[in-house]
Amino acid sequence: MTPLKAIVTLIAAMDEDRLLATEHGIPWKLPQDTTHFRNYTRDKWLLLGRHTFAEMRGWFRQGHTPLVLTSQRSFAPEIGRAVASVPQAIALTEQAGQRELVVCGGGQVYQAAMPYADQLVITRVHHRFPSDGKRVLFPAWKAEEWRETERTDFAVDSEHPWAFSIVTLLRVRW
Ligand SMILES: NC(=O)c1ccc[n+]([C@@H]2O[C@H](COP(=O)([O-])OP(=O)(O)OC[C@H]3O[C@@H](n4cnc5c(N)ncnc54)[C@H](OP(=O)(O)O)[C@@H]3O)[C@@H](O)[C@H]2O)c1
Repeated sequence: MTPLKAIVTLIAAMDEDRLLATEHGIPWKLPQDTTHFRNYTRDKWLLLGRHTFAEMRGWFRQGHTPLVLTSQRSFAPEIGRAVASVPQAIALTEQAGQRELVVCGGGQVYQAAMPYADQLVITRVHHRFPSDGKRVLFPAWKAEEWRETERTDFAVDSEHPWAFSIVTLLRVRW
């Protein structure tokens, strides 16, 4: 029997310039966004680049299945498994009967997964973070190919120094 198609979701937090991280890592700390990320990814199959996987060591919980994108054939993560391509990750997710693959970054992996994306779950931090050094960016997307289906706005408060919005976009199918 052919497995059902899984939807591919890219979940990311970025600033107004699509900045994901600088050489010092992610330049904001927004507890409500962290909760959103944890809730969205709970019990799901995840796709991460080898760099992001290394940063997130210790974060994974029972129920997470991380697939680690790498070109290194010998790479063996202590949880989940290594994959060599985005299509391989999608195929494994579908063979396991999962209905969604959640792509968690970083920049290189979002770039590789964007052509396969059905849904974007974007946290947009309403600020522009300066950096002269390394800047990891989320790929640009064409607004006309996506339809906003959900948006929640968060105001500045004592724990959140920047306003932000969590937005869901679905790819428009012609
Ligand atoms: N703001 C956010 O929402 C967010 C989310 C996630 C991560 N981040 C940040 O993003 C940064 C990391 O991003 P990054 O772009 O440097 O690294 P990354 O995407 O996490 O990992 C890059 C690695 O993934 C593998 N890879 C990527 N594309 C591949 C492909 N098409 N085929 C095979 N392997 C592939 C390669 O591993 P090998 O070298 O082993 O081949 C590559 O070196 C960190 O600073 C992190 O904090 C931010």
